[in-house]
Amino acid sequence: MKIPSRQEAERLIAEAERLNPGPWVAHSRYAGEAAQAIVSHHPDLDPESAFVLGFLHDIGRRVGVTGMRHSLDGYLFLMEKGFDDVARVSMTHSYPVQDIRHVNSKWDGTEEELEFVREYITKIKFTKYDRLIQLSDGISQPTGHCLIEKRMVDVALRYGTSKYSVPRWKAFIKIKEDFDKEIGQSIYVVLPNVVENTFGFNPKK
Ligand SMILES: [Fe+2]
Repeated sequence: MKIPSRQEAERLIAEAERLNPGPWVAHSRYAGEAAQAIVSHHPDLDPESAFVLGFLHDIGRRVGVTGMRHSLDGYLFLMEKGFDDVARVSMTHSYPVQDIRHVNSKWDGTEEELEFVREYITKIKFTKYDRLIQLSDGISQPTGHCLIEKRMVDVALRYGTSKYSVPRWKAFIKIKEDFDKEIGQSIYVVLPNVVENTFGFNPKK
């Protein structure tokens, strides 16, 4: 796979955090850790690659506070570095439904850029790694891993809902169920602190 080492990924994130500090960095690390933890029980996928893909999926945030164009910014940045496989995930992670209208926030790039993203997403065939990072993104808050339904509601409270919300939720639930089957147990069993992060209960506090 054309992806950086974990060490190089850490360097890229540290640089991006200097450019645009924010909760997206903690979210990204949890997404990497979720992907790694799930794949540690998967027969076909590689845990180390999964971490790097999850960790860098939002690297487009390095550009600043942006909306949907962060996927394209990350894609272009990583393609230029020759990390094609993580560039791909930067693009695909935002589209659990393979239709660019099914997103939470408005397009904030140019029409030409939107056309590029539309064509890319329409033509691509999602791999298990694409699906894994869509899922890992969906269960990772800046404070840790949580029930996917919890994150859906959090996003709905922040951005509101539309006619695309329910199909998007169904897609997330389907991906989660597919991974449950592939690892032979609930993904929540292999992720640390889901109960604390979802229900706000922490016995150590
Ligand atoms: Fe993300």
